[in-house]
Amino acid sequence: MEPQYLRTVLAQWATGVVVVTTLAEDGGRHGMTASSFTSVALEPPLVSVCVASAGATCRMIRRSGVFAVNVLGSDHEEVGRRFAGPGLDDRFTAGRWDTATTGAAVLADAVAWVDCAVAACYPAGDHTIVLGMVQDAATPRPAAPLIYHDRTYYEGIAR
Ligand SMILES: Cc1cc2nc3c(=O)[nH]c(=O)nc-3n(C[C@H](O)[C@H](O)[C@H](O)COP(=O)(O)O)c2cc1C
Repeated sequence: MEPQYLRTVLAQWATGVVVVTTLAEDGGRHGMTASSFTSVALEPPLVSVCVASAGATCRMIRRSGVFAVNVLGSDHEEVGRRFAGPGLDDRFTAGRWDTATTGAAVLADAVAWVDCAVAACYPAGDHTIVLGMVQDAATPRPAAPLIYHDRTYYEGIAR
């Protein structure tokens, strides 16, 4: 299967958009945009995200053992773009960020966030499935979610 062809096929799957945050080696914060977030179990409370194994985020999650998942609202398109872009230093200039229990950054006006300790990391091809045990969770703002489909951002349905 040619990877770019498969990517185009899988882009037809509409998802929400999250920013996964974690702790950098220097004690600072790091994050990246992701669409591979999944709720896994309620007892115990487990979630997962698939991250590129060669990327900075994967390395930092493995090293720190913590991460948070921030569910973006329909007005967070710029945040989604910034955390997927090439620049690593200016990502947190988009959005207002607080610090959760684990030390990971959480978006003050996220639709929802979950703060996690790494429960397991499963290598899967060129990605790593990161399983997180939820330590804390919140729904700061009852807003419409940001949707991603066919490489385009859309506003979800307002509540
Ligand atoms: C909407 C969207 C969803 C994405 N989902 C993922 C994902 O689930 N996993 C992943 O590894 N990268 C995903 N990416 C790509 C990363 O955000 C991008 O490669 C980022 O620069 C990686 O940051 P890092 O190199 O600091 O780890 C996504 C990008 C976009 C725009």
